[in-house]
Amino acid sequence: MVGHTATENSLLSTLSGAEQVAPPVWLMRQAGRYLPEYRAVRAKAGSFLDLCFNPDLAAEVTLQPIRRFDFDAAILFADILLIPHALGQNLSFIDGEGPRLDPPVAEGDLDRFRRRNIHQTLAPVYETVARVKAALPPSRALIGFAGAPWTVATYMLAGGPRSDPAALRRRWYDDRNFIAALIDILADATVEYLIAQIDAGADVVQLFDSWAGGLPEDILREVSLKPLQAIANRLKAARPQTPIILFPKGVGGMAAEYAKFASCDAVGIDFSTPWKSACELISPHAVVQGGLDPMLVVKGGRAMEEGALKLCETFRGVPYIFNLGHGLTPETPPEHVARLVEIVRG
Ligand code: CP3
Repeated sequence: MVGHTATENSLLSTLSGAEQVAPPVWLMRQAGRYLPEYRAVRAKAGSFLDLCFNPDLAAEVTLQPIRRFDFDAAILFADILLIPHALGQNLSFIDGEGPRLDPPVAEGDLDRFRRRNIHQTLAPVYETVARVKAALPPSRALIGFAGAPWTVATYMLAGGPRSDPAALRRRWYDDRNFIAALIDILADATVEYLIAQIDAGADVVQLFDSWAGGLPEDILREVSLKPLQAIANRLKAARPQTPIILFPKGVGGMAAEYAKFASCDAVGIDFSTPWKSACELISPHAVVQGGLDPMLVVKGGRAMEEGALKLCETFRGVPYIFNLGHGLTPETPPEHVARLVEIVRG
């Protein structure tokens, strides 16, 4: 067991396999609309995309939750859909409606995407990483991220915020060569993007596969497991020091398959994953992160406190990173987040 000292980086120690007295804590979507200071910057920035591409303001909102709650890690403020945008698909975020990528991606777009240099568009994001890294104390880690190819592809194919899961599966059976080619392009772009984030100062990278759930095993292997393994292997080969966290949301018992990749350091579990079996099946292969229902943080009080303590207790004896089973939602009272951090550290 390693003690928690002021200069030691608790997240990085945990990712290297050392159990902490209290687990490091950060929360998915820790920067966002539930914080009044975020809403103020967001109003000043103009659109959500203007905020993502403004290194001054994006660095500011990345650091806000660290100042307020002293989390063990900051997560870069950006979005998984910046890659399709950088590839040349028109992206907008309509308030109250979510993302719109239009027109939906078609076969004829792929050659143009392949020739595109994504770094021209994404350079401001690397600048944000550098600024946040310079502002963080060594005891706090900076997490870079990208969407997993399948999750990003679901938005590119649908063109809008709602991707009908059955229609997507039918599309796969009808047109798997097209979807596989799109996934390959996204995997290449994702590797380049994450290497650039690491070179700008990201200490850790996380891949979000938010729409991996609900797929038949054969499709899951093709669209999620294989591409994530390839991306993680390529990242490890290029930047061996940087830990990789995979978050395959909704995959249940299949989460252990991701944990078994030699290139995967940690696996995030969603709020429907049974904690004890996750501990038994995943911990022998990778560090577990997350699990708490974000709705418990909306609720707060005894229910949240008991849930958080039970989660910590379940993972006592193995390295574990405290987090939620999906992102914080806009209706979350910030006081509940402060109390949650206190409980986890207490
Ligand atoms: O604090 C952080 O977690 C860092 C920043 C971050 C955002 N999005 C900012 C954001 C991260 C890591 C993401 C990841 C992301 N984006 C995912 C994967 C994680 C998950 O939630 O499953 C996905 C699927 C997206 C795509 C996306 N971005 C959607 C569907 C939406 C609209 C829905 C919503 O929550 O508004 C967004 C917008 C978005 N991304 C916001 C933020 C803070 C809200 C935009 C606003 O301020 O108006």
